[in-house]
Amino acid sequence: MRIVNVPLGHRSYEIKIGAGLLVRLGDECARLGLGRRCAIISDTNVAPRYARKAMRTLSTAGFEPVLITVPAGETAKSLKSLQACYDQLAAHRLERKSFIVALGGGVVGDLAGFVAATYLRGIAFVQVPTTLLAQVDSSVGGKVAVNLKAGKNLVGTFYQPRLVLCDLDTLKTLPAREYRAGLAEVIKYGIIYDSALFRRLERDLPKLTPKSLAAVVARCCEIKAEVVEQDETESGLRAVLNFGHTIGHALEVISHYGQYLHGEAIAIGQVAAARLSAQVLGLSAHEVERITNLFQRASLPTEAKLTPTRRQALFAAMRLDKKVSGGEIKFVLAPKIGQAQFGCKVPYKFIEQAVRS
Ligand SMILES: NC(=O)c1ccc[n+]([C@@H]2O[C@H](COP(=O)([O-])OP(=O)(O)OC[C@H]3O[C@@H](n4cnc5c(N)ncnc54)[C@H](O)[C@@H]3O)[C@@H](O)[C@H]2O)c1
Ligand SMILES: [Zn+2]
Repeated sequence: MRIVNVPLGHRSYEIKIGAGLLVRLGDECARLGLGRRCAIISDTNVAPRYARKAMRTLSTAGFEPVLITVPAGETAKSLKSLQACYDQLAAHRLERKSFIVALGGGVVGDLAGFVAATYLRGIAFVQVPTTLLAQVDSSVGGKVAVNLKAGKNLVGTFYQPRLVLCDLDTLKTLPAREYRAGLAEVIKYGIIYDSALFRRLERDLPKLTPKSLAAVVARCCEIKAEVVEQDETESGLRAVLNFGHTIGHALEVISHYGQYLHGEAIAIGQVAAARLSAQVLGLSAHEVERITNLFQRASLPTEAKLTPTRRQALFAAMRLDKKVSGGEIKFVLAPKIGQAQFGCKVPYKFIEQAVRS
């Protein structure tokens, strides 16, 4: 088992990474000294596979778990699911010392985390991420939210979990497309922060051995922890984690979240950001090629074929993104593999070219 510490003063916590960790959930929660009653929040894909195991380990450790299942998919990050969760917590009489276990991907983690942050003004929660994206990204760092009709993650807060337990075995049942989408965030960490990680991925992808997977997930968590430690609420540095996300989010918006998974959209966004990095910060042509090739090795898309009308829609969506301030689109760019700068101003015509080629 690998352990990564997220050092945030009295809100510090550990991320534990390894195969077969789910059966230890009960003991791990017992070590945290949490109250007896707890609720596992999961979705209709994950609960049938893993909820029984999670319930059993918690019961064996002396807890009294109940299971709350929400529909699988992004629609579960809604005010409606939120209300359903609150009602069930109240019906089961969860109290201040009770806690919540988020068992699932980023959707369940974001929803359950927001429930935990707000029910009774906040009760403890533990993340058990079951997608690659959730293990390397969404379960770490404390951003929790639900969506509104007007946009994603518009109602949320920062609320750190007490523990993140990444059982790598759960990834075995993850659909291949979801796994690849998670790799897009993994590659991102290499580009923005760690050239050795990037080289390791060049060597090991498309197939990560169990040993390599464990090392890679741990390294990604470490990087996210380091960034979050320095800038928990995204007033600066944390923005580097958005590399490839300005164009990626806009692509998701104009396709109404139907065509691309998040990871696929940001793969395209990262390749475009690499091209912009070449123009604005002098990233070498060779490194742009290495970046493009690595996404291809991971079977991720590297460009979007857009009609002129759709390209216009893309720009409009970028200008509406919440990362825009004062009407100017600012980018995270990489002067070389392993380093990133946020807040880079990019001339409009460069963006157009990067999306076009
Ligand atoms: N809080 C953050 O910092 C942060 C960061 C990135 C993304 N997010 C959010 O995360 C969400 C996306 O997360 P995601 O990609 O994990 O999607 P997801 O939670 O929808 O999971 C993807 C699909 O895989 C299924 N699934 C999950 N684990 C499985 C398993 N082990 N076996 C079989 N099927 C499984 C799910 O039911 C779902 O159908 C978005 O809402 C996004 O906004 C949050
Ligand atoms: Zn992302």
